[in-house]
Amino acid sequence: MVKNTIKLTLNGDEIEVAKGATLLDAAQQAGVDIPVICYHEATSPNGLCRICVVDVDGGRVLQPACVAECQADSTVETRNDRVERSRRTILEMLNASVNLSEAPDIQQMMADYAADEARFPDANVREHTLIDDNPFYVRDYEQCVLCWRCVQVCAEDAQYTFALTLKNRGHDTSVATAFDISMTESPCVFCGQCIGVCPTGALKPKLEWGLQQGWSADDMWQMTRRGRKRGRENSDGE
Ligand code: SF4
Ligand code: FES
Repeated sequence: MVKNTIKLTLNGDEIEVAKGATLLDAAQQAGVDIPVICYHEATSPNGLCRICVVDVDGGRVLQPACVAECQADSTVETRNDRVERSRRTILEMLNASVNLSEAPDIQQMMADYAADEARFPDANVREHTLIDDNPFYVRDYEQCVLCWRCVQVCAEDAQYTFALTLKNRGHDTSVATAFDISMTESPCVFCGQCIGVCPTGALKPKLEWGLQQGWSADDMWQMTRRGRKRGRENSDGE
């Protein structure tokens, strides 16, 4: 009979996992915490942020636990000096270019890994104008860590709406609608799933944002009423 499990050593303990399990699956099964940013259980893992890297058999490069499969008889360390140094540097680079003030999980990681907030003082900060183009939510891509979760959940991972994509390259990469049209002109159905998976303050319900701006209840009622009417007019005019 073909065995559907494999054995490996994780942080000194032998464990048995299903064939095809990722290193993150194995760690979760063993009750070991590995930090994640781009990974979310509702979206397909892409291995983008590299915060989840672990040391497998002391290999030349660290492996991203959210996408790398467990290998039989391997030895995995989820937190040693190499791993800590790598995670710390990733956090320091992120912090140098993105506004993480409303990303509590990432801030907690910064503290856990003793990340130096001033390590890259000359880094180019990503600058974006806040986008307020619909009655339901605002987009502040200065707080975006480009994890892709919103793009994926809007596409094949959940909603099949495809309202979001990426534009530009390198430092100027940003999430956007196709051709940068407004959200009310896009296929967006305002399901809110993108907001639900965003790990930062980049996507925010309009009412929450309005409260932060000091709007009164009446301001918000008027704003959402006008915006909904505008959204209906846009879709009627198609
Ligand atoms: S807006 Fe949020 S969910 Fe989308 S890529 Fe940026 S950080 Fe990730
Ligand atoms: S959480 Fe694994 S690469 Fe981002």
